[in-house]
Amino acid sequence: MDDLRQKYIGAIADAADEPALEELRLQAVGKKGEVSLMMRELGKMTPDERQEMGPKLNALKDEINSALAAKKAALADAALNERLRAEWLDVTLPGRPRRQGTIHPVSQVTDEITAIFADMGFSVAEGPQIESDWFNFDALNIPPEHPARQEHDTFFMSRAEGDDRPPHVLRTHTSPVQIRAMQETGAPIRVIAPGRVYRCDYDQTHTPMFHQVEGLAIGRDISMANLKWVLEEFCRAFFEVEGVELRFRASHFPFTEPSAEVDIRCSWAGGSLKIGEGDDWLEILGSGMVHPKVLKAGGIDPDQWQGFAFGMGIDRLAMLKYGIPDLRAFFDSDLRWLRHYGFSALDVPTLQGGLSV
Ligand code: PHE
Repeated sequence: MDDLRQKYIGAIADAADEPALEELRLQAVGKKGEVSLMMRELGKMTPDERQEMGPKLNALKDEINSALAAKKAALADAALNERLRAEWLDVTLPGRPRRQGTIHPVSQVTDEITAIFADMGFSVAEGPQIESDWFNFDALNIPPEHPARQEHDTFFMSRAEGDDRPPHVLRTHTSPVQIRAMQETGAPIRVIAPGRVYRCDYDQTHTPMFHQVEGLAIGRDISMANLKWVLEEFCRAFFEVEGVELRFRASHFPFTEPSAEVDIRCSWAGGSLKIGEGDDWLEILGSGMVHPKVLKAGGIDPDQWQGFAFGMGIDRLAMLKYGIPDLRAFFDSDLRWLRHYGFSALDVPTLQGGLSV
């Protein structure tokens, strides 16, 4: 038994890898291993011999098993260390421009829009997506019984049992940011407010969450003419087409007076959309002169100040500019779609660098 102990404990200590260790395990304590075979001999011994040999053999078997386990752990540690050494990575090296992730078209278009309006002196304002009904409706001249409240397919937040205050809503448009920005800055003011908005609607051109950008410009004598110039300038820069033509159609919004919806000249010839040519018109935004009541709600004196506001759908602009047919796919997080329609993270849109290169 001492020979066996010496032989195996030594061999286990010297084992080079896990397969060698497993081989030793089989040789020593496997079913047909040397120690196991000796244990089988116990049956042929006298009771006295067995009394003496049994515990010794068991102790030997335990000793070999623990040596095996200890060596196995040591080998695993060594293997891990070797792997850590081999896979060592210099994280201070510059990254390789591999196009794995891409910038989502909504982010790209938001950046494009921001770059264009920043160039015209607009800064970016923000507001919460969970909004009080006062900011989303009342302050915008949409009182509780106004039919526009129904048209908005509003998502309401719930209140605690017994709390009778009107519920908060998921903002149905970015127009509440007009009020917040006016309250914060006062007049004069020139801001855009891009962000998420929510309406309970779902088909090829509607998703329950989508994106709008609001524009607001208040000054002493800002007029419809300024609105028209700003929007034409924007469309020319955004669609990167010189001959953009817009059509202003009289419309109605509670928060603007007068109000206009704006269409852009386009052609669907050959099944593909071309901006700036053809005989079709495509609605792209709502706009108008800010209603005096809205100025008041924003803390601005309507006898001193006036200006325009507009709101347009960012996702819709992205679909038009980049020929993306189905709005729902924007929010599926399908990597194949993102690789196809996404933008390189290194191409930050700027006016001087080209918006969409
Ligand atoms: N808030 C309007 C909408 O969601 C758009 C709009 C904004 C119209 C500002 C006029 C002025 O449809």
